Amino acid sequence: MIDDIFRYEDEIKNRIGEKRFQHTLRVKDTAIKLARIYSVDEEKAEIAGFLHDCAKIRDIELLKQKSAEYGLNIEGELEKAPQVIHAYLGSILAQKLYNVCDKDTLNAIKYHTTGRENMSDLEKIIFLADSTEPMRNFEGVDKLRELSVKDLDMAMYYSLNNTIKMLADKNVYIVIDSIKARNFYREMVY
Ligand SMILES: [Fe+2]
Ligand SMILES: [Fe+2]
Repeated sequence: MIDDIFRYEDEIKNRIGEKRFQHTLRVKDTAIKLARIYSVDEEKAEIAGFLHDCAKIRDIELLKQKSAEYGLNIEGELEKAPQVIHAYLGSILAQKLYNVCDKDTLNAIKYHTTGRENMSDLEKIIFLADSTEPMRNFEGVDKLRELSVKDLDMAMYYSLNNTIKMLADKNVYIVIDSIKARNFYREMVY
């Protein structure tokens, strides 16, 4: 399975560019480390980490075109929050192009940007690996790295809270899944 996935390295690199591809490798490594800590299937973490941004096409028109091609409806919330499209589309490409059939792996890719209520450990790991990989640099990242190796739910709450604050400050649309997830993890940790 793993060998199969890495056969697509060049194809993915061509689609998302070298820089974004290097990020996916760091997310993959971070995800494996977290999987080890929380006794989650390391191979699933590796695949989900490697593929999480496989649809991160920078050209928005091309991204929309690909979405249409693969039957992803981007009306509604995805139109208001276009940064989420690549995660949903990525989950579809993982299934249709890279033959991933494990539902948990596909969900980890789909929800890596927004989060959602009641995530599996694998979903949380990919979400957190994405924002804590070694090259990430934002206010609070060290605290988030610390939390992510100690308590997945606490780390989710901290991360969602920060992201929502940042998005609110930027006056952009915040998808319902993120708000619900934030409230869900608040309940979990307090
Ligand atoms: Fe992403
Ligand atoms: Fe990413």
